Amino acid sequence: MTDSALAPLAPDAPWVVLKFGGTSVATAGRWRTIQQLASRRRAEGHRVLVVVSALSGVTDALKGLCACAEAERGAAVAQIVDRHRELVAQMQLDAVEGVERWLASLQALVRDAAPDRLAWQAAVQAHGELLSSSLGAAFMSANGLPTGWLDARDALRARELPFLNERARMLSAQVLAEPDPVLSARLAGAGEVFITQGFIARNADGDTVLLGRGGSDTSAAYMGALLRAARVEIWTDVAGMFTADPRQVPGARLLQRLDYDEAQEIASTGAKVLHPRCLSPCRRARVPLWIKDTQHPGLDGTVIGPQPAESAPSIKAISSRRGITLVSMETSGMWQQVGFLADVFELFKRHGLSVDLIGSAETNVTVSLDPAENLLDSDVVARLAADLAKVCRVKVIAPCAAVTLVGRGMRSMLHRLSGVLAEFGRERVHLISQSSNNLNLTFVVDEGMLDGVLPRLHELLVRAGALRTDDTSLFGPSWQELYGKGEAHVRTPWWHAERARLLRLAGVPPSPHGRGVGGEGTGEPAGLVGSEPSPALRAPSPRGRGEAVFTPRYVYHLPTIRARARALRAMRSVDRVYYAVKANAHPAILQALVQEGLGLECVSPGELDAASAAGTAETPLLFTPNFAPRADYAGALQRGMTLTLDALHPLLHWPDLLHGREVMLRVDLGRGLGHHDKVRTGGVTSKFGLPLDQFAAFLELAREHDVRVVGLHAHLGSGILDASHWPLVCGQLASLADRIGSVRCLNLGGGLGVPSHPGEAELDIAAVDAALAEVRQTCPQYALWLEPGRWLVADAGVLLARVTQTKRKGAIDYLGCDAGMHALIRPALYDAWHEIVNLSRLDARADTLYQVVGPICESGDVLGSDRHLPRSAEGDVLLIAQAGAYGESMASHYNLRPLAETAVIE
Ligand code: LLP
Repeated sequence: MTDSALAPLAPDAPWVVLKFGGTSVATAGRWRTIQQLASRRRAEGHRVLVVVSALSGVTDALKGLCACAEAERGAAVAQIVDRHRELVAQMQLDAVEGVERWLASLQALVRDAAPDRLAWQAAVQAHGELLSSSLGAAFMSANGLPTGWLDARDALRARELPFLNERARMLSAQVLAEPDPVLSARLAGAGEVFITQGFIARNADGDTVLLGRGGSDTSAAYMGALLRAARVEIWTDVAGMFTADPRQVPGARLLQRLDYDEAQEIASTGAKVLHPRCLSPCRRARVPLWIKDTQHPGLDGTVIGPQPAESAPSIKAISSRRGITLVSMETSGMWQQVGFLADVFELFKRHGLSVDLIGSAETNVTVSLDPAENLLDSDVVARLAADLAKVCRVKVIAPCAAVTLVGRGMRSMLHRLSGVLAEFGRERVHLISQSSNNLNLTFVVDEGMLDGVLPRLHELLVRAGALRTDDTSLFGPSWQELYGKGEAHVRTPWWHAERARLLRLAGVPPSPHGRGVGGEGTGEPAGLVGSEPSPALRAPSPRGRGEAVFTPRYVYHLPTIRARARALRAMRSVDRVYYAVKANAHPAILQALVQEGLGLECVSPGELDAASAAGTAETPLLFTPNFAPRADYAGALQRGMTLTLDALHPLLHWPDLLHGREVMLRVDLGRGLGHHDKVRTGGVTSKFGLPLDQFAAFLELAREHDVRVVGLHAHLGSGILDASHWPLVCGQLASLADRIGSVRCLNLGGGLGVPSHPGEAELDIAAVDAALAEVRQTCPQYALWLEPGRWLVADAGVLLARVTQTKRKGAIDYLGCDAGMHALIRPALYDAWHEIVNLSRLDARADTLYQVVGPICESGDVLGSDRHLPRSAEGDVLLIAQAGAYGESMASHYNLRPLAETAVIE
């Protein structure tokens, strides 16, 4: 189909503005892409205005031309002429009249050079866009898409802004772009597809002016506003704005929807993909702005528009800027002194400096100067400081960096930021500023602190539920998934393939169509009938109370557990793996792990009973009690378990019990790690482990009572995703072990984390193994043990619940279910994140934002906040994922509710 075969457009057909940058217009192939995209928009019923930059490198060449010596100008022009003529030939066009005209005009300007005149410089530099747009018009017209050429200077009129100096007025001008129906009608009368220049405009004197850095994006925005376009599309080489700079945070997620203000904040605080200036014209004219990736045209990219529909409050991005200068002004006389600030700011104005952030105290005002807004050479800062010194004590702090969290409703998220604040707490923070529009929170720190901090902060925000990456309508794929080398590892959980079976286990009768789905799409309650577990299931029979009860119910998937066990057993550097029984003591799980060759680590007589029942005579058992009564130790020793001590007390007070025994010693390495404060087990505030300052005393007592220390142990916490942790602990334990002499093994603890928030990266077991193998070479005499719980079982378990009631209170939709904090306490205790899906409506659109709550009489009985789920009804089956670890094992009878049922899939 040729373009000319399309029906003509209606006179009021909406405009779309497409903008392409320098690399996108530099080759014939790229121009074909532009033509295809413009044709597509035309075919969709739009008038099209294409805005282009100069060919890549040409603006710099023209700037060079303005600055170079007279003798060199001829050669510089000739290069620019050749570059364009070569592209004309590559495009298989005959000499293009427009291109030749602008080349001639450039040569003429150079002949009559007036390098000192800003108007001349602007006129010269404007030629890059005049040339590229002429080239494009010829190419597209010659290839079946008649394209008119528009001189942008006839449409964009620079504003006379008194506060701008001459340089800014000529080289970084601003335009007031109000919708202009006359221009729109005039163009509509002349054609359907047009091309024009970015970066240039005209002032009231008729001179050409430039729009400064990012000028082409800004031109596109101005044009969109003038034409009141359906949208402005900025085509570039990345898919849009991301939650963080992807070069530093590869896991940063694409931001699919933003409102103008958020996008403005992100652009102004560090993101480079869009110039902050181009947002306000679009916002004023209510024109949406899309960022699109030329390499992935099918991807929606980032859509910036009026406030998007309802979604959970979330941080949208974390950005950073370097090169910030802080000016701290101290005076004792400032308090309530009329006009002090006015006097001070007058000095900033006099030196042409615009202030960004402000912090104030009774005797101090500190402000920041952003290099993006100021020409910050040390001279100007020194002159300012000299003037300020006349009215206050001045300190200039540089170089600093500003780290900014951006998101609508920042204040309502402060409670989730404790991890971020703790991270900053370790460094020297010069200034914290919360914007009065409630959109950003900025920390100014020494520039050196910035290295490596963004990935950590990004992860903390995701983990704290402050960056709600579960909202897939807002947060798109990660940069790594889009552009990373190799495929991003996305595991589909086992329960997707087990849906029908899980619904049956939750008491939903198989549907007549054999889909086993109750209540789906009907909004009706799904009936509760007897369960019929398949022969492959081991499910205790439903508890009787006159009616069968199926939920809440934990379901465990043994194949997942076995696969995990094998992965750990395959680690070359680890000699023995113990399973931490506390994570889940279900007999079928213990048996499966014993069969896979794991030992069992226990912390109570009850766990020892369970472990003994599941294990064989060969199963190695560990006993790692903490503040347990003497009798527990006596019992374990009687049963021949390996005992771990973590205090002086047993040796001081029960020496007869331990005399002649071999023990392991758990030490406190002075720091804790993990997914939440409550699971970090190191440092003085944690009750675990022997502090190192008592190490010598312990060894002395052990010698005295003939107790041999045959192993060292450390466990710093639970939910660690950093692969370097265990090798580090190994090295530390090895050097302590060298001081003892009798040590045979080092138990590096558990704590292996599983990612819970969408987008979090997996713990790289191969990396742990490789790093451990390396450390091991330095201490080959010690056997290495691990004792993980979570990593083996978390993903293997789900909790099934049935919806009990729904309720709307104010703007909040509550979704009640029969599993509460009595069945799964982790969300209430640790703010833990468990994915929740409506298994009865797995394919329905998740269009409602729910607080998912249980039946317990506590306000904290919340399983998930602000969860996107399909509108749900009584009887629907909810699946709470990743509940295999510390779910059932931490359950209680609170409110005298019975414990959850269980079932096991072999
Ligand atoms: N070894 C010792 C000495 C431990 O105290 C623990 C866990 C483990 C091993 C196993 O840690 P894992 O690999 O499972 O992270 N209830 C919390 C977790 C508490 C862990 C207690 N100790 C949660 O639900 O996150």
